[in-house]
Amino acid sequence: MMPGMIKDTVTLATLGFCLAATITTAFAQAPTPSSAGNAPNGKKLFAADGCYQCHGYEAQGAAPTGPRLGPRPLAFAAFSKYVRQPTGQMPPYGGRVVTDADLADIYAFLQSLPAPPAADTIVLLK
Ligand code: HEC
Repeated sequence: MMPGMIKDTVTLATLGFCLAATITTAFAQAPTPSSAGNAPNGKKLFAADGCYQCHGYEAQGAAPTGPRLGPRPLAFAAFSKYVRQPTGQMPPYGGRVVTDADLADIYAFLQSLPAPPAADTIVLLK
């Protein structure tokens, strides 16, 4: 049994909630290619800027603090807008604290994360 399995099921539920909450804004905007972002630097920024404190080092999320963010984050425009002007519990990050280039790197890091296993491959769920 892998230790991450139970956590994955919890965060899948969180992700579902999160998607439902943001579906109107997220999918109304065209996705932006993220090839400009530097994923290894984004991983460092994700820790240095404190995102990990609520979303976890692997952006896996935790029900009480913040949702899973990867490996398929919102479209970049919605992602960037949310970090600048969050509408819930998350604190806002202005452009002086986290620059647009930093955001592109963080986004590339989120996209680079491995996908969670398919639900029907998780023995505990059978
Ligand atoms: C103090 C805790 C906290 C910190 C620090 C934090 N977040 Fe969040 N974040 C949240 C919470 C909680 C939510 C869920 C919505 C809400 O309540 O704002 C969220 C939601 C988000 C969302 C929207 C996800 C979605 O699918 O709707 C994005 C994107 C995001 N955070 C990115 C970041 C990034 C990038 C950083 C670092 C620059 C960061 N967060 C730092 C708590 C945090």
